[in-house]
Amino acid sequence: MSPSPILPPFPLTRLRRLRRSEALREMVTETRLTAADLIWPVFVTEIEGADIEIPSMPGVQRVTLDGVRAAAERAARLGIPALCIFPHSAEELRTEGCERAWDPENIGNRAIRAVKETVPELMVMTDIALDPYNANGHDGIVRDGVIVNDETVDCLTRMAMAQVEAGADILGPSDMMDGRIGALRMALERHGHSDVAIMSYAAKFASGFYGPFRDAVGASGRLVGDKKTYQVNPANREEALRCVARDLSEGADMVMVKPGMAYLDICREVRDRFGAPTFAYQVSGEYAMIEGAIRQGWLGREVMLESLLAFRRAGCDGILTYFAPEAAQALA
Ligand code: PBG
Repeated sequence: MSPSPILPPFPLTRLRRLRRSEALREMVTETRLTAADLIWPVFVTEIEGADIEIPSMPGVQRVTLDGVRAAAERAARLGIPALCIFPHSAEELRTEGCERAWDPENIGNRAIRAVKETVPELMVMTDIALDPYNANGHDGIVRDGVIVNDETVDCLTRMAMAQVEAGADILGPSDMMDGRIGALRMALERHGHSDVAIMSYAAKFASGFYGPFRDAVGASGRLVGDKKTYQVNPANREEALRCVARDLSEGADMVMVKPGMAYLDICREVRDRFGAPTFAYQVSGEYAMIEGAIRQGWLGREVMLESLLAFRRAGCDGILTYFAPEAAQALA
């Protein structure tokens, strides 16, 4: 883990010797990125005509159920092991009570079934949070301006069970309520789903980098206030580590750090400290920054793979990224 203490002085040591040729560089490469490390987040809409490119995420489409089927086939062809489904639901189905979140017929659940019907072996990850179905854009139930924790956890549990019934393989609670991992794990056991995995959004920071995502799921205009009463303060490393410890102790199988690039220190520390499968989410704003700069001609395309490799170097087992199909293609 730590570098060798033996480093004879120049000219005995010439570090450039091993950089001389492509073959040598390949031979001493420490970190690798493959399509098998990627999870592809896909936005699915039930609104006719809303299957457009997201303006703040050039190159990323919001798709219909047919589009989800096509994405599943594409992922399988490229060797991407999992899609992560993010729903964009109709206006009238977004309510204060968020009832649509646990409706077996909501667009998220229909998309899960569409993937499983198209490519049964492709894994489906879900997002567990109320925001796509909430009238006010929050991840939890809001009462008198307060995001109420325990009632939200009950709603999230119902939401998750509907996702599992639809065929989800990996649950992704992104809501940051307290006690949700334990509640989900116990509900899975009770309902005979002991094999369903939980990838907890454990170290999820209150970040400005989620902006384009909120456009994509139609939550931007409606979000009342901010998410700082449940997502972690970007200044707090110790608190983020406590979140990870807590979620693992409640039954999470894998943990996530989110956003990614501005939090690589957290990735490394989580991996080293807990040794659990650790993922990073290269979020919408990170995608927008990179893709935007490439399209402007300010950066070259190679920064895309470079940004993903950084997560592997920081200890991550895998990455959720909107670049998944392009990266997998480039790595093929
Ligand atoms: C919803 C959720 C968010 C993201 C994933 N799940 C947004 C938020 O917390 O406001 C962000 C993903 C991205 O920016 O790409 N709970």
